[in-house]
Amino acid sequence: MLGAEMPDSSSAEATEGDFEVSPELHADLGESLRRALRRPQPSIPPRFLYDELGSRLFEVITAIPEYYPTRTEAALLTERIDAILACRPVEGCTLIDVGAGNCEKSARLFDAIRPSHYVPVDVSADFLESALSLLRLRYPTIQMTGVGADFAAGLVLPASIPASRRLFFYPGSSIGNFSRDEAVVFLRSIRAGMGPDGTLWITVDLDKDRAVLERAYDDELGVTAAFNKNVLSHVNRLAGTDFALRDWRHLARYDAAAMRIELYLEAMRDLTVTWPGGSRRFRAGDRIHTENSHKFTTELFGELLTRAGLRTVQVFHDARRWLAFFVAAPV
Ligand code: AVI
Repeated sequence: MLGAEMPDSSSAEATEGDFEVSPELHADLGESLRRALRRPQPSIPPRFLYDELGSRLFEVITAIPEYYPTRTEAALLTERIDAILACRPVEGCTLIDVGAGNCEKSARLFDAIRPSHYVPVDVSADFLESALSLLRLRYPTIQMTGVGADFAAGLVLPASIPASRRLFFYPGSSIGNFSRDEAVVFLRSIRAGMGPDGTLWITVDLDKDRAVLERAYDDELGVTAAFNKNVLSHVNRLAGTDFALRDWRHLARYDAAAMRIELYLEAMRDLTVTWPGGSRRFRAGDRIHTENSHKFTTELFGELLTRAGLRTVQVFHDARRWLAFFVAAPV
C-alpha cells in the first residue's frame, strides 16, 4: 500500500546514496510471465515495457510530434503554475513523484514548488538511480530519496519520508494505464498516504478524435512500435522465452466504447515460442495484449477521485481541452 511504510531499512535493499529498492522488484517474475502467455488471450503486463531500454524509448516517445500529452502538459504547467500553486499551498512540501522516469518533469517545477524533500518512485530502478544521481548534483540543497518499486502492485514508502505536507505528483496521464477500478484502488492508496494536509497533482488524458489518438500510439518513425516490441526482449531475459522480434508487429487500436487505446503485438506468421518446460503455438494474426491507455472526461475523473475519498480543488485545461490537470485534496 502506498500509505503504508517500510518498518525499517532492512525491508528495503539500500543501494548507493539515498536510494531504496523494494525487494519484490527482484522477485522471480518468469513464472508469472509464462502463465500470462499460456492464457487463452495472452498478455504481458505493461510494467515490463520499462526495462532500461524501454525507459529510454519512452523518453523518445515523449519527444515525437504525434505524442501530444507530454508537450501539452509541460505547456499547461508552465502557463498555469502560479494559479496551480495559489489553489493549495505546497511550498516546502515533500514532493513524491509517482512514475518519475528521468525526473525531468519535477525538476522543471523545483524552483516554483521549492520542495524540502524529493522522493521519485519508479519501476525502472536502474534508470531512476542514474537520473537521480545527476539531479542531486544540480540541486544539492534538496534532500532526495529514490524508491525503485512497482507501485501498481502497492508502493511502500521508506519510513524516513516525512508524513506531513506530502505533495503527490502523478503526471503524464499514467493513471490511464490502470483499469478504472484499479485507478480507484490506486487513488485510495495515495489518499491513505496523504494525511490531512496532503495534495495530489494529477494529469489525465481526455477523450478525443480517434485519428489523433491512434497516431499518438503508432507514430511514423516507429518509436512506439520499437517501445512495444522491446517488451519481448525483456520477457526473453526474464522468462527464458525465445521471441524473435522480427516475427511481431505493433498494433494500436482505439476502443471508443471503453475509451481506451489498446496496444498489442501481432504474430506475422505461424510460429512457436518456447521456454524452459513449455511452449505456445501462435497463428499469424494472433495477438498479445501489452497495454491499455484509458482516456477520461473531466467529470468521469472527478467521480473516480470522489470514490477514492478525494475532492477536486481545481481543474486546469489546455486550450484544446486535450488534457485535464487536477489539484485534489482529502475530503
Ligand atoms: C506512460 N503512459 C502514460 C503512456 C501512455 O500514453 O499511456 C505509455 C505509452 N505507451 C505507448 N506510448 C506511450
